[in-house]
Amino acid sequence: MKLYDVYPLFDINIVKGKGCNVWDDAGNEYLDLYGGHAVISIGHSHPHYVTAIEKQVATLGFYSNSVINRLQERVAEKVGNMSNYNDYSLFLVNSGAEANENALKLSSFHNGRTRVISFEKAFHGRTSLAVEVTDNPKIIAPINANNHTTYVELGDIETVKRELAKGDVTAVIIEGIQGVGGIRVPDTQFLQQLQQACNDTETTLILDEIQSGCGRSGKFFAHQWAGIRPDIITQAKGIGNGFPIGCLLISPKFTPWAGQLGTTFGGNHLACAAAQSVLEVMENENLIANADKVGNYLMQELTKIDSIREIRGKGLMIGIEFEKPIKEIRRQLLFEEHVFTGVSGNNVIRLLPPLSLSMQQAKEFIVRFKRILNK
Ligand SMILES: Cc1ncc(COP(=O)(O)O)c(C=O)c1O
Repeated sequence: MKLYDVYPLFDINIVKGKGCNVWDDAGNEYLDLYGGHAVISIGHSHPHYVTAIEKQVATLGFYSNSVINRLQERVAEKVGNMSNYNDYSLFLVNSGAEANENALKLSSFHNGRTRVISFEKAFHGRTSLAVEVTDNPKIIAPINANNHTTYVELGDIETVKRELAKGDVTAVIIEGIQGVGGIRVPDTQFLQQLQQACNDTETTLILDEIQSGCGRSGKFFAHQWAGIRPDIITQAKGIGNGFPIGCLLISPKFTPWAGQLGTTFGGNHLACAAAQSVLEVMENENLIANADKVGNYLMQELTKIDSIREIRGKGLMIGIEFEKPIKEIRRQLLFEEHVFTGVSGNNVIRLLPPLSLSMQQAKEFIVRFKRILNK
């Protein structure tokens, strides 16, 4: 059987990873400024993570959500402490899209409404509700086009307020920092006004921190730079460092009832062991502060490069926009300088490295990047 062919692939077979480096099957070493799409947070094959997963799978890999799972409680406590959301509750799922799906469902259960405000260039995943609030008609199948969503320009608070005043909006969903859309950071004042407008109309504010969360921005969640407290926060990617896990942080204003949400695999023992070890490493190695420091350094150095049109982002979530298409720059970076980077659209390079990227590795990236740009 062949694979269902939906991914444009680089002709590279990555077989090993350690820290911020990966190796292909020919033994070539690469610097990973992509983190497997913002997933690798504590670095590849971190020994604490490896041991935690090995020990757990040797003890109990899985049991169902019909029995007590103390590992889930430990993850909830850790996430609560590290994010300063101890008064919220945690629901564990398997992916980012599933987290957003459940967030939107929970909102609709709560206030009985069905319309959603999302933003231009937003990406929230590929399952039914998640894709319906994603601003990309190409990936919305006819079965998912159910007219629930109104897209507003990022930052346009007046239009948001006008829409919320109609009284039929269940939720506003917004990324902490837009990722797929090209690393666009929502303005602090806009986020504060958005929270107020949602509070005034009893609309749920959902912060999608799937890419920007878990320390990537230099705070646990990117929205914490704006000092707001949304009603639901979704996260995935970095919390598992490659193990599939997602979660929702849910405000006390929501009331659970038996059967309201559910999943077979979400919160399984192995996933919890992975997440717990990721959070422990993040804390022990001060990786959130490191993301802030190394991210600031990269931004500073990138600002000195004339051919760059704009640099956006926070921490280790950085968008480098060029006037011209960057396909060739990215290809040369990968094949000639052995640096993995991400992309957004035609003109933006995305840097999403492990949060453990050292100053030395950041400097090395700048050297290799300049070599390609100066060719
Ligand atoms: C902001 C955001 N939301 C949701 C998703 C979907 O996550 P997943 O691919 O785990 O379903 C992504 C994935 O790239 C994302 O960047």
